Amino acid sequence: MGEENRVAIIENDNAGILRDTAVSHIGFRVPDVPASEAFYANVLGLVRQEELPDGGVRLGWGTGHHVVDLLPGESRLDHFGFEVRDAGGVAGIRYRLKTAGFQVTDLDPGFVDFAAEPVEAISAVSPDGVPVHFHSAVWRQGETAADTGRRPVKFQHTTIGTDDVQRQVDFFANAVGFRVTDQLSDGRFCWLRSNKDHHTLAIVNVGKSGVLDHYSYDLAEWEDFKSWCDRLTELGVTVQWGPGRHGPGNNLFVFFDDPAGNHIELSAEMEKFYDDQVEYVARKWHPVPESVNLWGGQLPHWRKTSEGHRGVAEAGR
Ligand SMILES: [Fe+2]
Repeated sequence: MGEENRVAIIENDNAGILRDTAVSHIGFRVPDVPASEAFYANVLGLVRQEELPDGGVRLGWGTGHHVVDLLPGESRLDHFGFEVRDAGGVAGIRYRLKTAGFQVTDLDPGFVDFAAEPVEAISAVSPDGVPVHFHSAVWRQGETAADTGRRPVKFQHTTIGTDDVQRQVDFFANAVGFRVTDQLSDGRFCWLRSNKDHHTLAIVNVGKSGVLDHYSYDLAEWEDFKSWCDRLTELGVTVQWGPGRHGPGNNLFVFFDDPAGNHIELSAEMEKFYDDQVEYVARKWHPVPESVNLWGGQLPHWRKTSEGHRGVAEAGR
């Protein structure tokens, strides 16, 4: 591959500070709240945990912290959040974001349900204009007891679409403390970790800022994918991409859409990273379809970033 296609994503000393932080929740504006709520109940087993002002609803699995907020409005990503279990983690993020010049506000602790201890919760606006929440530990009982043929184990990662990957890395790695695990060698897609999972957050250049590319739930094992694909079909939900296996993360995947057009991934077997035992170097994957889909390189219809440009990438190989 020619050097002209290689872009190094730049990290500073803050990258990798977080070791025990995971996605917590995500909020969408949707045109038809009842239709989306019915979908999340029927397909993903998420039930209403709370009614929100102005006709919104807060969904979870009935135990533990909520997972999805559905808020009325034109379809868009409203906010997303992380649960920070690192000791002193929220205070550290607050300090580093402020030092880097980002605005941080306190989040109403009432927002954080099912907390075991007093909650510290903050919100900061990402450089793409999307509020990002960080809160301390909450209860997540019930997640590992899921019937994974019918209900995902947990919410696992968020992939943000942007028009400037480095600007997002400056926020999430160089201030908040995530670390780049892998990238496409042209710098248009990167995967970041904040615990032992290969990624809890990914950033992809989709040519516009502040949008959701997709978000993902964990399944337990490959056997579950068969149950899910059959059940999605019975429910009239079209499988949009996969099943397949990603190169970055080595995880199994299948994708479908919610009624508002959000791309939902089900995933299993995510590669684990042990930063306390080994030093890793971020890998640079060729920006070809086979990198994000090891089993054949098919891409979803919505993917228009660099890994779709097979001709350009292969010419430089
Ligand atoms: Fe994903």
